[in-house]
Formats: sequence, C-alpha cells, structure tokens
Amino acid sequence: MTRSDTRRDRKKEHIEHYLKSTYRNNTLFEHIYIEHCSLPELDFGEVDTCTDFLGKTIGHPIMINAMTGGTNFSREINRELSKIAKKHNIPMAVGSQTIALEDGDSHKSFKIVRDTMGDNGVVLANLSGHASIDEVKYAIEMIEADGIQIHLNPAQELTMREGDRKFKGILNNVENIVSHIDRPVIVKEVGFGVSGDVANRLYEVGVRYIDISGKGGTNFIEIEDKRNDKIDFSDIYCWGIPTALSLIQCRSISRDLKLISSGGIRTSLDILKSLVLGADMVGIGGMILRKLIEDGYDAADSYIEGLIYKLKILMLLTGSKDLDALKKVPYKVKGELKDLLV
Ligand SMILES: Cc1cc2nc3c(=O)[nH]c(=O)nc-3n(C[C@H](O)[C@H](O)[C@H](O)COP(=O)(O)O)c2cc1C
Repeated sequence: MTRSDTRRDRKKEHIEHYLKSTYRNNTLFEHIYIEHCSLPELDFGEVDTCTDFLGKTIGHPIMINAMTGGTNFSREINRELSKIAKKHNIPMAVGSQTIALEDGDSHKSFKIVRDTMGDNGVVLANLSGHASIDEVKYAIEMIEADGIQIHLNPAQELTMREGDRKFKGILNNVENIVSHIDRPVIVKEVGFGVSGDVANRLYEVGVRYIDISGKGGTNFIEIEDKRNDKIDFSDIYCWGIPTALSLIQCRSISRDLKLISSGGIRTSLDILKSLVLGADMVGIGGMILRKLIEDGYDAADSYIEGLIYKLKILMLLTGSKDLDALKKVPYKVKGELKDLLV
C-alpha cells in the first residue's frame, strides 16, 4: 500500500468515524449570557450580516470549515458543500491538501470547490504546520485560494497509529510561511482549541489570523481511537480548551488578530455569542457534513439558511444592525467558564 493509499483510506475513515462518534464535550457557550432588547428601534430588513473577509465581501460571517478532499467520495462532498457556500456567498475551506502533493489524481477533488464557487467565492487552502513554502504555494495555486489554513493537530497525530511524532520547529516554520506567502495565513486547530499563550506566540511571529477550533464538537481523539485497536483512548476524550474559553483568551491578545470561532458550532446562538465575544468569522465543520451525508443536500442547505435567518433575528433582538454593532453588545460570563477565566 502506498502512502497516498493510506491517506485516502484515512480520509474515508475520518468521515465514517466522525458520523459514528457519540461523545459530547462542551463548548461552554451556555455560560455566556446576552440580554434581550424589546426596544431595538430597528426593522428586520435593515439587519445586515455582510462582512469583508480576505479581501472579498461575503454575505454572512459563517464559513464551511476544512474537512475533506482526495477521494471520489470527498469530491462529491466538496461539490455539494461548495454549492451551498456559493448560494449563500460564504467562504469554504478544503480539507488537507497533503495528499495532493503526492497524488495528481486527487487534485480534482479540491479544484471542484473553486470551480463551483467561481472567482467571487472565498476559498481556503489547507496544509499542515510542516508544509514548506513551495508546498504552500502549490496548494494555493491549485485552487486559486484566497488564503491558506495551516493546521496544528498534535492531539490527533498522537492518537493516530501512523501519526506524526515530531512537533519541534513548527512555530519557526509558521513564521517562515507567514513571511514568504503573499496571501493571508490562518493558523488553525482541529477541535482542541488555541490557548491565549499559543495565540500570543503565533501573533509574535507575524500570524494575524487564527481559527481557534476549540473543544465541544468534532473530537479527533475519539475518531482516531475508533481507527486504533491497540490502545483505548476513551479516558482522554475530554481533552482540550472549550471553544468559548479559547475565543475569550485569544481575543485578549490584540484587536489586530482576526479570529475564526469554530469547534462545536451548531446553532445560531453559538454564532451570535461568538460574534459578541469578538470573533470575525464563525466556522462550521462536522454539523454541516452530518446534515449533508445523513439528510442530503436540501437539508444541509436549509440548515445554513436557518442559521442565517435566526442569526438576523438574534441580531435584531440585541438591537444590532450590523456586525460592528454586535461586537459592542455587552455580555456576562457565568459558571464554569467564569471560573476558568480567573
Ligand atoms: C471529517 C473531518 C475531517 C477534517 N479534516 C480536516 C483537515 O483535513 N484539515 C483541517 O485543518 N481540519 C480538518 N477538520 C477539522 C475541522 O476543520 C474543524 O476544525 C473541527 O472539526 C472543529 O469544528 P466542528 O466541531 O464544527 O467540526 C476535519 C473535521 C472533520 C469532521
């Protein structure tokens, strides 16, 4: 079996095991309290969710996060997801393109996203923190990406039987990528959260975009555990930084740092709370994938449409006409989240 075959199988298994995963961690968004406003002095039609992201104007601050690519099955998934992204004028990231560095046949499963979304769509490339400058350029060119996500996933790699065991030098490599690539570089987790300390170290080497991908949704320790029959990892399924905590910690670093809130985003309330806490964009991964595979295209499309409609309702109910106004809405932190912030 070649390395590309292993990668292809792994991609398929990630989706299968994600769909079978049952363990549920908490984002801690339920500990954010936002007050209702019965005198918003706004008409519903005035509520505007447009925003600028990576140099283009998009319809809503919601993106479809990195998930897949590399196989025929993932090409179909990417085709359907990118149709939804185009329809609502929201960004979409492709899954890791590492397989595409070795296997030309896999390119079409990634390119389908740009082909579907056209020049006006915001499309993001995706590679690991080990990627070289040439690999980053190659991945960007392949899909004419507006930016690239560089994923950090030590928890996933260490629970993956065939995973990476070398994590030295990644910060240096990220610094090198940021200083040599003329497109925005978004450093992201994959569901275990970015701490304030890590965000600060990334900021100091020039990173200006972080996707926190916190705990509370997709759990790669559980997914890899289901692929690994040697060791039982169920006692560490609870590992990671809850999304709400990671977001608050990273927000305190600098206003100059653009933040994507992701990890366990399921509802319009999660999106609203992320934006009130200062996120510039909100990423959805597993939930939209599950809707698409289990219930089909129309259900996945309606899910996004519903999120947008309910986000606008909630914006009106906080008296917020647009996303800038939403950032000024006061909030209170309670319970476990409050304890973790001291
Ligand atoms: C099946 C699956 C595959 C994923 N593959 C990638 C990947 O290739 N690269 C990456 O950066 N993140 C990957 N992710 C992580 C997501 O982009 C996201 O960070 C994480 O799932 C947390 O968001 P969620 O709880 O909304 O799913 C994957 C997630 C899922 C569910």
